[in-house]
Amino acid sequence: MQPRPPRELDLATLCARPDEPAPSTTIPLAGPIELSAVFRVADLDHIDALYESREPGFIYARDGHPAGARLATKIAALEAAEAALICSSGMAAEAALMLSSLGQGDHVALSDGLYGKTAALAAREFSRFGVEHSWFDPTQPETLREVLRPNTKLVFVETISNPLLRLANLAGLSEVARSAGAMVVVDNTFAPLLCRPLEWGASAVVHSLTKLIGGHSDVTLGAVAGARELVARVGATASTFGQTGAAFDCWLTSRGLATLPLRSGRACATAMRLAELLAAHPKVAATHYPGLASHPDHALATRLLQGGFGTIVTIDLGGRAEVDAFIRGLSGIVFAPSLGDVATTLSHPSTTSHRGQSAEQWSRQGIHPGLVRLSVGLEAFEDLRAELEHALTLLS
Ligand SMILES: Cc1ncc(COP(=O)(O)O)c(C=O)c1O
Repeated sequence: MQPRPPRELDLATLCARPDEPAPSTTIPLAGPIELSAVFRVADLDHIDALYESREPGFIYARDGHPAGARLATKIAALEAAEAALICSSGMAAEAALMLSSLGQGDHVALSDGLYGKTAALAAREFSRFGVEHSWFDPTQPETLREVLRPNTKLVFVETISNPLLRLANLAGLSEVARSAGAMVVVDNTFAPLLCRPLEWGASAVVHSLTKLIGGHSDVTLGAVAGARELVARVGATASTFGQTGAAFDCWLTSRGLATLPLRSGRACATAMRLAELLAAHPKVAATHYPGLASHPDHALATRLLQGGFGTIVTIDLGGRAEVDAFIRGLSGIVFAPSLGDVATTLSHPSTTSHRGQSAEQWSRQGIHPGLVRLSVGLEAFEDLRAELEHALTLLS
């Protein structure tokens, strides 16, 4: 109970003071959005108890807030992890994890085909701080063994690579890395629900929640999931570097998460049908989709992925001119360099996610200007089929 003020308050004072919570014995069904950057502390005993974790509660939003905590609980459950931390983007999550785990003189092993910014973070930014790196083929754990060194602290891999959708042999990689004392971090952005990397031996999972989990292209957010002690360490680093996520973005992402199973199931099913259609189309030089028997990792995908082969289909149209004509011929599928939206979108890896990489990096990853990456959404299959077939007929 607040003591009564010693005099009747001036209107200016009334307006300036924080709102008092409205008395209620009910709680809202839809979660509230607590935008507060700071929380009210009762007294000095209370602040000590909060800092010493003797009482639950939040103090300063950069260190934690209710919407972030609620979302983190669900992301941890999604990944069968003890705990999760919400960061301001997928890149913030990756950076916080690396900042908390790596130091001068350490070495990281990076899988071929990593998202361009992840490659830049680990190979370019961290090298400025004396962290060395090597590359390996995530489909072949033996290639990881060849690059491991006594100072290898971290192995970074994506469940499904971008844009050729190669599958990581997570069990084999984890075994090799753990025997050398290195932690395996898996970017599971392309496969939420379909794969739980911790169950295959990974040490931590990162997500760009901006993609499928948010699901509506209206948030930029990321997560780290893993053991409680690891997540606490990453959380302390993320707070110091200012990398934690904002409350409204967390709220929107929780809302997106509610329909993730429905969206993922439908989009995976449509992606499979589109991949079959495109694989048989004479204007498409190659179709990359792990659900196709022709995909080099199809057998691994069948073991690793549950409930679908993903929502991304990559096609090879030959060259840049064909891709341009294809994009102009589409009537509803838009060129938007992201993925995981409710609507089907397309991206062009060589001018977006893998822009600026060297010819050697492209050739190592099989990237060239003729590749188009489709992120399949929730439209009716027949509408997507008609639109894609029409755009393909325009190619010479
Ligand atoms: C596989 C993958 N990981 C991480 C990221 C980075 O996520 P964000 O854009 O939320 O920082 C992306 C972004 O495209 C991505 O595709």
